[in-house]
Amino acid sequence: MKKILFTLLLGLGVINTAAAFAGDAAAGKTKSATCAACHGANGISAIPLYPNLAGQPAAYIVKQLKAFKNGDRKDMMMAPMAVNLSDEDMADLAAHFASLPRNPEAAASAGASSAAAPAAGDVKIVGNFPGQAKAAACTACHGADGNSLVTMYPKLAGQGEQYLVKQIHDFKDGTRKDPVMAPMVAALSDQDIADLAEFFAAQKSTAGNGEANEVGKKLYIGGDANRGITACIACHGVKGNGMDNAAFPAVAKQNVEYLTTQLEKFRSGERQNDANNIMGDIAAKLTDDDIKALTQFMSSL
Ligand code: HEC
Ligand code: HEC
Ligand code: HEC
Repeated sequence: MKKILFTLLLGLGVINTAAAFAGDAAAGKTKSATCAACHGANGISAIPLYPNLAGQPAAYIVKQLKAFKNGDRKDMMMAPMAVNLSDEDMADLAAHFASLPRNPEAAASAGASSAAAPAAGDVKIVGNFPGQAKAAACTACHGADGNSLVTMYPKLAGQGEQYLVKQIHDFKDGTRKDPVMAPMVAALSDQDIADLAEFFAAQKSTAGNGEANEVGKKLYIGGDANRGITACIACHGVKGNGMDNAAFPAVAKQNVEYLTTQLEKFRSGERQNDANNIMGDIAAKLTDDDIKALTQFMSSL
């Protein structure tokens, strides 16, 4: 009878995938590292606009992830998160979140043991700046001390102050287009922007996730005269610290994934907020292999 009912429900589309019940919670836990920034390491989100996933039924989670992926449910933050998930990933993630306790107190103790949880002790705030309180809204993606845990998001810690001010203004007035950042900065005043830049510039950047390599080093230091590629060192500095009086950004210790997306965006023309197309002209001459070697090298500095 149970079997008949199940088949019937499946036929009616009430249960739309058996896979929803076959997820591997342990595998899902590993895969959930990228979700933690917004939904919390324990599935309880710290930001009221982001839903809790802990204890949510697995079938519901799978259904929502499919809807974000195929566009039936539209959300500018979740769409890019779901687009690369396979059916198996979705089942695993759903099994993981469904297994977490819904009660925040129980969840807090469960979360304490999670590797993805940014343990409060790991974050060292430098100085005492008015921008720190204002940065609470940036924490989910950029980390409490400006060291983002998700490698697609840039570290802001130790970035040049002038450069940060310019970028936030560029997002605000649309010169630099990004659907995630635009709403974050829309309501910031000039004073807020100055305070935030001062705070993040004073923080210490953690080590990058890239590896030193000769190909990247050669191109970074010497450029390539035959191909008309200006040496990166001219503007981003020997140590990759940039030149902040000219608003040239630091690239050292930055996340490889973020650096890669930016070089690709300059190359395709999607990012055009660089004065005189400085970076656009350079990136246009870079191959995918150049970008791979350069981003690894810069991050390793
Ligand atoms: C950048 C922030 C962000 C990240 C990272 C993120 N999400 Fe979300 N997620 C959201 C937001 C915002 C919503 C609410 C969307 C809406 O309002 O419709 C949401 C909604 C959801 C929902 C629907 C919940 C419900 O009750 O309807 C699921 C399921 C979900 N996310 C799963 C995930 C998974 C799994 C990951 C990691 C692979 C992930 N999310 C990563 C921001 C994020
Ligand atoms: C939901 C995630 C999210 C939140 C919250 C968020 N950001 Fe961002 N931020 C991003 C992403 C994604 C990018 C990269 C955009 C791109 O590809 O151009 C970015 C880029 C930036 C940059 C450019 C860094 C660089 O190296 O060029 C600055 C500056 C920045 N954010 C500041 C802030 C500030 C200040 C806040 C809080 C008021 C904030 N962000 C909140 C996701 C977020
Ligand atoms: C003539 C000066 C100049 C040279 C040479 C140069 N850059 Fe840049 N680069 C800039 C400026 C200016 C920006 C920031 C533009 C803006 O958004 O205001 C930038 C931005 C970047 C960014 C994005 C940083 C972030 O946080 O978003 C990356 C990555 C980058 N450059 C890599 C390189 C690489 C790799 C090379 C060498 C192949 C290079 N640059 C050569 C001036 C230069």
